[in-house]
Amino acid sequence: MATGCETISDARQISRTFRDLQDQIIHNGAQTVTDFNFDEIIDRRHTSSEKWDRYAGRDVIPLWVADMDFRSPPAVIEALHERVSHGVFGYTSPPTSLAEAVIASLERDFAWAVQPDWIVWLPGLVTGLNVACRSAGVVGDEIITFSPVYPPFFSAPTLSGRTTVRVPLHLDGGRWQWDPAELERAITPRTRMLLLCSPHNPVGRVWTREELEQVADFAERHDLVVCSDDIHAGLVLDADKAHFPVATLGPEIDRRTMTLLAPSKTFNIPGLGCSLAVISDPGLRRSFRKAMGRIVPHVNLLGYTAAEAAYRFGEEWRKALISYLRDNRDLVMESIGRLPGLTMSPVEATYLAWIDARQTGISNPAGFFETSGTGLSDGADFGLPGFVRLNFGCPRPLLAEGLRRMEAALRHKEVSCP
Ligand SMILES: Cc1ncc(COP(=O)(O)O)c(C=O)c1O
Repeated sequence: MATGCETISDARQISRTFRDLQDQIIHNGAQTVTDFNFDEIIDRRHTSSEKWDRYAGRDVIPLWVADMDFRSPPAVIEALHERVSHGVFGYTSPPTSLAEAVIASLERDFAWAVQPDWIVWLPGLVTGLNVACRSAGVVGDEIITFSPVYPPFFSAPTLSGRTTVRVPLHLDGGRWQWDPAELERAITPRTRMLLLCSPHNPVGRVWTREELEQVADFAERHDLVVCSDDIHAGLVLDADKAHFPVATLGPEIDRRTMTLLAPSKTFNIPGLGCSLAVISDPGLRRSFRKAMGRIVPHVNLLGYTAAEAAYRFGEEWRKALISYLRDNRDLVMESIGRLPGLTMSPVEATYLAWIDARQTGISNPAGFFETSGTGLSDGADFGLPGFVRLNFGCPRPLLAEGLRRMEAALRHKEVSCP
């Protein structure tokens, strides 16, 4: 049973862990790979960080919810300082210059020619998923999504009075994929929408052009709307992989797709709540806006400011981030590969590793690793119990310590219950 004394000693222990890791950086400056110091351990305790507060006063390294422990790009921080020093924070329209910056980045990254009036601003992507589901058909209709997936993909249809139909992803030849025959069998006369996560959280896949063409063909044959959540589009880790927004595959799929985007994951500004939907078809856009009603609030004006600076000036930082995350990903792959009972497939995009712990025989692996000092997400929340999700968007020494604790816990278990 936890006592006050234990909490104090845990708090001291995490402070010691922090100091030790920070010292490691000071004495090992060579780990800094770029002008942006991703190795710096920034103390996020006492900042109401959701990620860190879960383990307040406990010596647990939080590698769960999907934000990163890095400072945002310097250009974003400067733009926010400038906007704050203006000192007047009234109702704010979406800046035209922000739409121009988004459009330029979509043209540069995906050769996608988006018109300004296709953009609908949103305070969050989860809001976008829920609005999209409300705009699809009527109460009682069905919405397909692949499982495992980020939990709001399961809840958004249900919260909208629709039924969520899960089509499982399978690990085939080391890659998570859907089975086209199973997808086909999921169709009923009431299916209205396919919710796609692209790139995919949590399995880390960058869907190939061929896979997305299958999605397009499926949607067209069954007259479905596709809602594609591309929030992780800027986080492709492998140089030989490319993300394609499904809407860019041709005019027919474009007119039936709602693409949800945000700078929040890539530039680490999720607390500033600025996202967008790109919907080229006027009818679809009208039904999306109608479903927003007067319920969805304005985007926070600092969200607009940060988003514009990120899209306009963040590319150099993003490239350095990708290089750092790639090395973190490799460290995770290498470490997990050594651990008894754990396996994972390559993470092609995102900073999230999806780890199969079923062979360990541990019934609640997230709970087991938490007790051992590493806080992971429980795969059950994503639709697959026995898995854990590990967020490697953090300074490498912190990640290495989290992985070391996982290894120590598994080795100890092996010795005590062979
Ligand atoms: C696929 C996906 N969509 C949406 C979100 C959350 O978006 P928001 O914070 O803008 O609601 C996340 C966060 O992890 C995510 O992984």
